[in-house]
Amino acid sequence: MSEATYLHTTRAAYDTVAVDYERLLRDELDAKPLDRAMLAAFAELAQAPGTGPVAELGCGPGRVTAHLHGLGVDVFGIDLSPEMVAVARRTHPGLRFDTGSMTGLELDDASLGGVVAWYSTVHTPPELLPTVFAECHRVLAPGGHMLLAFKVGDQHWHREQAYGHAVSLDIYWLPPDQVAELMAAAGLVLDARMVREPDDSEKPGQGRQGFFLAHKPDEAEAAR
Ligand SMILES: C[S@@+](CC[C@H](N)C(=O)[O-])C[C@H]1O[C@@H](n2cnc3c(N)ncnc32)[C@H](O)[C@@H]1O
Repeated sequence: MSEATYLHTTRAAYDTVAVDYERLLRDELDAKPLDRAMLAAFAELAQAPGTGPVAELGCGPGRVTAHLHGLGVDVFGIDLSPEMVAVARRTHPGLRFDTGSMTGLELDDASLGGVVAWYSTVHTPPELLPTVFAECHRVLAPGGHMLLAFKVGDQHWHREQAYGHAVSLDIYWLPPDQVAELMAAAGLVLDARMVREPDDSEKPGQGRQGFFLAHKPDEAEAAR
């Protein structure tokens, strides 16, 4: 799939579901202690002084952005879908949300202390993930941290229905080793890999969930 096609279909799908997605998922993290633990670890790591703010890439309605803000993180959200950004701004009026694509971020090099992609790369065709991870590496300051949440597996789903709406949406479940290789190829150093089983709230058959913590090496580390 071309980058233009993927961006168009994904944007259209999330524009369609934005209001119901926010309503259905706003409290989802409450029942996910392991997911919150990864966010808490990231929040602690990404608050090193002097490295810059954190961006949640593919923030949707901003529930994870708001969760990180609640943990004391200087964070803003970016999403492809203007409707998602509108919902995020309405739901969290004190926080910053911008439209944009993680395939080409309108952010300066080395300007962020952290990036989070929380189930937002799942729609990116795997052949375009090197572009996304290269963007994450570019915008991170040396020593900055990345947290990625993704669906574990080795399949491609096409959905015609989501959150009560007709959509056309592709979802890619990836083997952890493939994700690790792609991140390493972009220059990111993996610090932790958590793969957990589906919990009670997740439909049977939804599969395992992956959470990777990584960082961009500083000059001294890169030279070693
Ligand atoms: C499954 S939702 C996750 C939203 C949010 N992170 C959360 O957990 O609630 C995926 C989000 O990623 C966004 N997205 C997908 N591809 C993107 C891209 N290339 N750039 C920015 N956002 C993207 C979609 O618009 C959608 O809002």
